[in-house]
Amino acid sequence: MERLEKIRNHPLFKESTEVISQKEKERIYCGHSLYHSLDVARIMYIKALEQSMTVSKELIYACALLHDLGRAYEYTKGIPHDRGSAELAERIMEDCGFSEEEIRQVTMAISDHRNKENCTEELEYPLMRILKEADNLSRICFDCKVSDTCKWSEDRKNKTIKI
Ligand SMILES: [Fe+2]
Repeated sequence: MERLEKIRNHPLFKESTEVISQKEKERIYCGHSLYHSLDVARIMYIKALEQSMTVSKELIYACALLHDLGRAYEYTKGIPHDRGSAELAERIMEDCGFSEEEIRQVTMAISDHRNKENCTEELEYPLMRILKEADNLSRICFDCKVSDTCKWSEDRKNKTIKI
């Protein structure tokens, strides 16, 4: 998993995660720390195993680590975080030795991860569906003190432990 360590140590990754942690210091809603990214990675991997997907564990973790990185651009430049994350993912993955196809798989999944509809491109980009599922499942809405004012729709909130 040498390439994951390269991502983690990439200056853009470090800089962006630092911006996110500073900007979210006072945030009362779910944050976008490394804990969240790793929760998403692990759930994605469980989903991939359950669905007998052939996608690599390393690519799943890369996708999860990078999927919310664009929050830094959202906070500092007003760019939507899915777009910012895809842009950052492309630059970082290129520097960390990922192939063009691997970068395409990850950036397509990240670009779509806020889309609530199931996308027809999910067959071509298998990370898309499991990223959305895992991102949602990672949140513990049933134990949230500010769930009443959270902007998530009621049907999106996890009101029970979902397995
Ligand atoms: Fe997320």
